[in-house]
Amino acid sequence: MKKQIHLNAFEMNCPGHLAHGLWAHPEDERTRYKDLTYWLELAQLLEKGKFDALFLADVLGVYDVYGNGNDPAIRRGVQIPANDPMMIIPAMATVTQHLGFALTASTTYEQPFAFARRMSTLDHLTKGRIAWNVVTSTLRSAANNHGLDKPVGHDDRYEVADEFLKVCYKLWEQSWEDDAVVKDWDNHLYTDPDKVHFIDHKGKYFSVAGPHLSEPSPQRTPLLYQAGTSAKGSEFAAKHAECVFIGGHRPDVIRRDVEEIRRKAVAFGRQPEQVKTYGLLTVVTGRTKEEAERKFADYSSYFSEEGALLHYSANTGYDLSAYSDDEYLEYVPTDHGQSLAALFTKDAVKPQTVGEIKKALSSIGSRGLLIVGDPEEVADRMEQWMVETGLDGFNLTQVVTPGTLQDFIELVIPILQQRGIYRREYGTESTLRQRLFGGQDGKLPAEHRAIHISRRELGHDAIPQSK
Ligand SMILES: Cc1cc2nc3c(=O)[nH]c(=O)nc-3n(C[C@H](O)[C@H](O)[C@H](O)COP(=O)(O)O)c2cc1C
Repeated sequence: MKKQIHLNAFEMNCPGHLAHGLWAHPEDERTRYKDLTYWLELAQLLEKGKFDALFLADVLGVYDVYGNGNDPAIRRGVQIPANDPMMIIPAMATVTQHLGFALTASTTYEQPFAFARRMSTLDHLTKGRIAWNVVTSTLRSAANNHGLDKPVGHDDRYEVADEFLKVCYKLWEQSWEDDAVVKDWDNHLYTDPDKVHFIDHKGKYFSVAGPHLSEPSPQRTPLLYQAGTSAKGSEFAAKHAECVFIGGHRPDVIRRDVEEIRRKAVAFGRQPEQVKTYGLLTVVTGRTKEEAERKFADYSSYFSEEGALLHYSANTGYDLSAYSDDEYLEYVPTDHGQSLAALFTKDAVKPQTVGEIKKALSSIGSRGLLIVGDPEEVADRMEQWMVETGLDGFNLTQVVTPGTLQDFIELVIPILQQRGIYRREYGTESTLRQRLFGGQDGKLPAEHRAIHISRRELGHDAIPQSK
């Protein structure tokens, strides 16, 4: 069988995700984001397109780096207003049977005990269709919203994240044995206390006694996503992530990152195929190339350059308003996102002036791969990039919502299906993890550190909660 393309839709619970300014386009329905019907329709559309999952980004503060102020982001609607991504999932799960939901949540500002319970709840309610995009949060504004004067430093955030995951693994994987819940009506025994364990975690950042409050969910640990390919980021991904989301528009650089993550995963005792990689992709298509190009020109006339600049500034820590256009932007490690900081600096083909970077950012889809073309051309390019980069699939972003996805599903999906590189129907697998990785029970494989760390630390020593 030919290598299959995996597809997620990349979205956010807000009127302005990545296509800055496009909320004003007459065909765009993004401002309906507060309506549950908007999300139900989107979920049903994605299931019609046989997508793996809806991937929901999130942010926990205003993008305030550009010109050191909040107003531009608020004025342009750049990821503010933004509602909670978790809340919309159960409703979408009721109108779908197969679609997965990948939810972004931060290890810097969540508390692992409460978070693990909310994720288990979602995994139960969706019958094993939940994924977690593990982020560490970069913004000062987010730090200020959570009791800190400044963000935790870049590498330290990953250290916190590592311990956060360890706590979650203990709660998800070891606190409850598979057969703890007996529901023995005759003996009035709901759960066998000997099979529910404290975790008694006492670490540098977290102290959690347990036991987990939720009984084991179909996947136990939700499918784990990560994005961010700095040295620390890719090490974290290689240790923990089952799916890695890689930004950027240069296939050779994406290939480098894909190979790096797989190499590091092997060094952590995992199989290279236990990590799937996804690129960021924007597709504008129509029945003909001319139609696609006409649409792109129309959409571009709504695109907000200021929105793109302030988003980039906040993500990288480089305040583009503080440079003159003829200055060359040099890569300096930042406490923000180092992979995005590298995109137009050390990962660029040649040194770029700030003016050149601004121009590039002013185009739709500049942070990732972009295709404007007829459906055959789109399918060709996707296939070509899968080969060139080694990616397993794409997170598709929308320009006009839901028109971008409607076009893609109506025009491109049938071609991918005819070429034998995309499913015609969902399989019989019951969880999201099984859809991506196969396996018997939807749980993490034994090689994953969640299993051996939590077993080693708790395993035989786990203390029944009744003692
Ligand atoms: C493609 C992509 C998508 C991301 N989505 C989010 C997101 O939704 N929310 C968030 O807080 N951070 C997001 N990030 C930021 C990363 O999670 C990470 O914190 C950041 O890139 C810093 O890591 P790095 O230095 O390893 O790149 C994203 C990063 C990339 C590359």
